[in-house]
Amino acid sequence: MTDRYVVFGNPVGHSLSPRIHELFARQTGADIEYQAQLVPLDGFVRNAVTFFAEGGCGVNVTLPFKEAAYDWVSQCDEYAGTAGAVNTIVPVEGGFRGCNTDGLGLVRDLRENHGFSLRGSNVLILGAGGAVRGVLGPLLGASPGRIVIANRTAARAQALVDRLEDPRLSAMEPGKLSAAFDLVINGTSAGLVGALPQIPPEIVAGGVAYDMVYGANAKPFCDWATQHGARLAVDGLGMLVEQAAEAFSLWRGVRPDACAVLKALRESPR
Ligand code: ATR
Repeated sequence: MTDRYVVFGNPVGHSLSPRIHELFARQTGADIEYQAQLVPLDGFVRNAVTFFAEGGCGVNVTLPFKEAAYDWVSQCDEYAGTAGAVNTIVPVEGGFRGCNTDGLGLVRDLRENHGFSLRGSNVLILGAGGAVRGVLGPLLGASPGRIVIANRTAARAQALVDRLEDPRLSAMEPGKLSAAFDLVINGTSAGLVGALPQIPPEIVAGGVAYDMVYGANAKPFCDWATQHGARLAVDGLGMLVEQAAEAFSLWRGVRPDACAVLKALRESPR
């Protein structure tokens, strides 16, 4: 029988997840169906309950339901706990386990697809919203030397730092940044409206610039970084594929070849 999976979001029409999981299924010989489902803003719990009651095998969760999913599940993995957000739900004995594979996806993309090791590195993260909170656990788990969080609203960055209580983590006002970083991650939503976070250009010189969103939304930041001497500027398509690979592994117990799928998506984006 075909195993059914779904991604819940609003909006969700643009989601690449059905295509990614279809490619993973083809690679691994799995008989699955994966659909994107538009869920009303007040409808997450209702839809999750119905989907699993009707025999669904796993749910991915995208904006704006990751916090609602965290509240709904009966248990969590470490990363979902740190993030307070869930992007993958796995049915388990007696309930539902909430996982967060976003940060693992980011770390794996950096390491496997871009050859960047976080160990001992000096990292700057721009933004302090849900997207950033979702990836901090795995980033810290990859043994960076330090991580600085800079956000337009400085108090939000400080609140994140206070919450995580890790000596390698600190907050800084964007305008006060000066030294260069090995890695600058854009975790703001500025690119969605074609804007850029306001930061001094010297901080990206010689480093790697990474935007957590992909395609046209990543272009303002990647272009800016390239203009100011970044040695590499990449979007987050690899993160999307790698977080999906983590979810697929959790559901199916088989790790797909994310690199091959990423290549296929880069060659033919639609
Ligand atoms: P998400 O879940 O995508 O992270 P969010 O929680 O609304 O969404 O957070 C958006 C992040 O992008 C915030 O860090 C926001 O900065 P503020 O906390 O100051 O609002 C940041 N952001 C959005 N537009 C920005 C812009 N034009 N310049 C700089 N930062 C921006």
